Amino acid sequence: MDYKWWKEAVVYQIYVRSFNDSNGDGIGDLQGVIKKIDYLDKLGVDVVWLNPVYESPDDDNGYDISNYKKISDKFGDMNDWNYLIKELHKRDIKLIMDLVVNHTSDEHRWFKKSLFKDSPYRDYYIWEKGGKNNPPNNWESFFKGSAWEYDEKSKEYYLHLFSKKQPDLNWENKKVREEVYDIMKWWLDKGIDGFRMDVINLISKNQKFCDGENEGLIGSEYFANGPRVHEYIQEMNEKVLSNYDLMTVGETVMVSPEEGSKYVAAARNELNMIIHFDHMGLDEGEDGKYSSPQKIDLLELKKITTEWQYKLEEENGWHSNYLSNHDQPRMVSRFGDDDEYRVESAKMLATFLHTIKGTPFIYQGEEIGMTNTVFESIEEMDDIDTINYFYDEKKKGNINSFSEIKDILNYRTRDNARTPMQWNDEKNAGFTTGSPWLKVNQNYKKINVKKALSYENSIFYYYQKLIELRKENPVFVYGKYKLILEEDKEIYAYLREGKEEKLLVVLNFFEEESTFEIPDNIEYNNYELLISNYNKEENKISKIELKPYESRVYKLK
Ligand code: GLC
Ligand code: CA
Repeated sequence: MDYKWWKEAVVYQIYVRSFNDSNGDGIGDLQGVIKKIDYLDKLGVDVVWLNPVYESPDDDNGYDISNYKKISDKFGDMNDWNYLIKELHKRDIKLIMDLVVNHTSDEHRWFKKSLFKDSPYRDYYIWEKGGKNNPPNNWESFFKGSAWEYDEKSKEYYLHLFSKKQPDLNWENKKVREEVYDIMKWWLDKGIDGFRMDVINLISKNQKFCDGENEGLIGSEYFANGPRVHEYIQEMNEKVLSNYDLMTVGETVMVSPEEGSKYVAAARNELNMIIHFDHMGLDEGEDGKYSSPQKIDLLELKKITTEWQYKLEEENGWHSNYLSNHDQPRMVSRFGDDDEYRVESAKMLATFLHTIKGTPFIYQGEEIGMTNTVFESIEEMDDIDTINYFYDEKKKGNINSFSEIKDILNYRTRDNARTPMQWNDEKNAGFTTGSPWLKVNQNYKKINVKKALSYENSIFYYYQKLIELRKENPVFVYGKYKLILEEDKEIYAYLREGKEEKLLVVLNFFEEESTFEIPDNIEYNNYELLISNYNKEENKISKIELKPYESRVYKLK
């Protein structure tokens, strides 16, 4: 067995802008995070992942970086950052930073220089000829419209897979790669413990620039998992990563288990783990992300999870496990029930997250069961993805007003994850004394940290217990995942098999009660209930009556 700290770790993701505002300007900041380190310590997490806090014009909330070595004034300065890492490390909490190097901001000095055709920086980006009204090819941006933007002055187009203020770097250029490695080393030498790498599987494009023909995002067959991606990541590993003891998490869009395993197979020396999206598509309606959501089909969730689990086991790769982050609606509103069974379902989903094999990622607020919110107008929203979609649909004449698609926008928008953290029941949920950059969820009086800390059965303490169990029982980390009751439509049950002991995890994913019967071929002499989201009534393990959203984890010997 290959023991690693990052396999044993639990990660807590902080979207700084929405976490805690220390100076009343309505925007969360580093001093705000510093004030909450004891809270994180109490929860028991081992690693903090900070979303981008670098200088940025914020076209995509920090994912458009104009200076990689500077902290944005909004969030504080390098002194604050130095203090933050010191305080985290003091408590044995590691820090990983977001590395966004598929693209920069158009306000980055490289891009400004790149606008001149004869500059050595021209080739830092991807410039192509086209006709004035016809871009080099039909590739689409993730944020709607063509992936190409015309530059009047040089009469060429540059590629941007995200917004036009996020021009894609040209990784074919060795100098670009060296700049990136330099940035990475600079941060590593400041003592960070790893990187979460933004859309890292998009860095290599097929530069023949043929028209795309696939049904999803047009052109993605030429830029997702592109021709040289593994070569680049291996180079990065050799030149940078392998010289440090790090945690590396690659965000990879549109990857299958087959393709995904290549990034993490231990023998290939690329990354430790990736963030894939397969389970995030489960509630997608017929016409994609912004169509009426479907009910989650548990059999599908089991299938997807199991395929990834088995494939990475085979390749000796590792998983990152998540049900929410800054790009996704709130987990409990999506996979659970954010109404009557909010507490039960949040705990059940947490149990899932912490007991499948891999490193669990908790997104801020998840540990108190924060839910989706309601926006009354497009003006109240901030997410560039939602806003571009809305205006694009309007332009196409598919809709006339917000109210026509209010529900679906509200279900989907990334803003659900970005509403301020709910600390208490005071003004602005205790997030800021000023006026928050995004409106606070109306349910903050009911759902907040102060309340969660005040009673024993809260979601917070359940997470704390799960994290403790993981520390005490290596089988949570290293045990082999094995699906049981494959065909059961209501219950998700699996084993984690260690050398001497096993875990049996039983999850009821629905509001309806259900009965679990242990298959005959599972051998054990005795059993112990480690955790459950209901009172531990005596219950024969061979046959368990499960309440709505009930979860149970047993240790079998
Ligand atoms: C990733 C980020 C997302 C961002 C996009 C472009 O998916 O998580 O927030 O919009 O990359 O950088
Ligand atoms: Ca602030």
